[in-house]
Amino acid sequence: MIDETAGALPIAGVPAARVLDEIRGLRAGDRPTHGGRLFAYVYDPGVAGLDELAQAAHAESAHVNGLDPTAFPSLLAMENALVGAAARLLGGGPGTSAPDVVGSVTGGGTESLLLAVKAARDARPDLAEPRIVVPVSGHAAFAKAAHYLRVALDPVPVDPVTLRPAVADVAAAIRPETVLVVASAPSYAHGVIDPVAEIAAVAAAAGVRCHVDACFGGWTLPWLRRLGAPVPPFDFAVPGVTSISVDLHKYAYAPKGVSVLLHRDSALRAPQFFAYGDWPGYTMVNPVVASTRSGGPIAAAYATLRHLGEDGYLRLAARTRDAVAGLADAVRAVDGLRLLAEPESTVVCFTADDPGLDLFVLVDELTARGWHTQPQLAYAGLPASVHLTVTAAVAPRVAEFGPALAEAATAARAAGPVALPPELLALAGSLTPAALTPELVAGLAAGLGLGGTVGAPERMAAVNTLLDAAPVALRERLLTEFVGLLQRPVW
Ligand SMILES: Cc1ncc(COP(=O)(O)O)c(C=O)c1O
Repeated sequence: MIDETAGALPIAGVPAARVLDEIRGLRAGDRPTHGGRLFAYVYDPGVAGLDELAQAAHAESAHVNGLDPTAFPSLLAMENALVGAAARLLGGGPGTSAPDVVGSVTGGGTESLLLAVKAARDARPDLAEPRIVVPVSGHAAFAKAAHYLRVALDPVPVDPVTLRPAVADVAAAIRPETVLVVASAPSYAHGVIDPVAEIAAVAAAAGVRCHVDACFGGWTLPWLRRLGAPVPPFDFAVPGVTSISVDLHKYAYAPKGVSVLLHRDSALRAPQFFAYGDWPGYTMVNPVVASTRSGGPIAAAYATLRHLGEDGYLRLAARTRDAVAGLADAVRAVDGLRLLAEPESTVVCFTADDPGLDLFVLVDELTARGWHTQPQLAYAGLPASVHLTVTAAVAPRVAEFGPALAEAATAARAAGPVALPPELLALAGSLTPAALTPELVAGLAAGLGLGGTVGAPERMAAVNTLLDAAPVALRERLLTEFVGLLQRPVW
């Protein structure tokens, strides 16, 4: 039965106030984007009035189209200002060793990385089978770029203790077909900074581009350094670094939809562009993936940067640094938990050493107490872990987090580890993706409480345990099927 008053397109339009009420009703089921209790997905500075400013700026430019910079010079001016600010923060611009830096504003980190790979690939049309070298701690978006662009991915392992790649392994992975070498500053999963100077040097020695993925840390590491943290060189001050990405919708605290991709000079950037005139319409020239682009996110980012200024970002970085230290202390205080890496940026990542303390149950216990953390599955000799992206809004919460973590750990011990039926675990370990029929996935999803229309269940430990037992290819397939079950039209 189709209800003609419901859905996105009712026969009779709905009054504005009611529509907004409906959206607010839907939003009530979301995780809290503000308040410092969600340690992934959102970046909250906790600055009064900033949301209102960004929303007003967004509204001002929402209908402006980035398709044609000559039609909307306002957008071009704001984009160029954002690129200039990012370049200056990351060691480029007048008076630096990278005076000719240029860049583009993209829709997000994944798009920036996709374009860095495209530029590197298209700079070498002579290569039939281009390749990129990426430490396994590099963001999954590089694998996506490799997949989309038909570039081969050469992963480099990371040391299980330092969580960094060995420079010799990076050097050994570079081949004549390599078009790009990647370093992270820092990695998302663990928040550790790769040895950028050494990696860039081996890339330069081989005549290969080196991209520094500073999507996550590019807008925090420079402030942390100014505050006295021992941040190693990672930006354009490092010879051999040819491009850098930094997401403004992360630690620049802009609303979603804005990242900056910088190149050391315009010759390096040129193959990023796409131009097409071989049709009867307008000659399309796109520096980035999207063609029509809303000016809203760009205006909102511009307003956010101008309003906070360097002073504001320094204050927020100091608050975040203190919050990281407090959260790390809270982890150290719980028996059986261990920091996977000493925090060197804005991530706290921990694992459990005690078999009686199930990390996935702990995550559920934290969720039940209103703390939303991000579980990470075991991978290539690295244990399962819990990831916390720490933002400035966490600072006032730190004192509450310690007791909550201790209490959740006690509850997780009392509940005991997840005990899935051994035959199910054996199946997860042995099933191949090809053997997964839609019926089998639907059955599994139903058995685990997934696949309804309202998202994931409150308790995810069983699901995570099953995924943890599955090989990577099966994890990918299972989750793809689950997401497919969630994405169903509402009539
Ligand atoms: C280091 C790093 N690179 C790239 C990305 C991808 O960014 P986005 O989710 O904006 O596409 C992220 C996201 O967390 C990241 O942390």
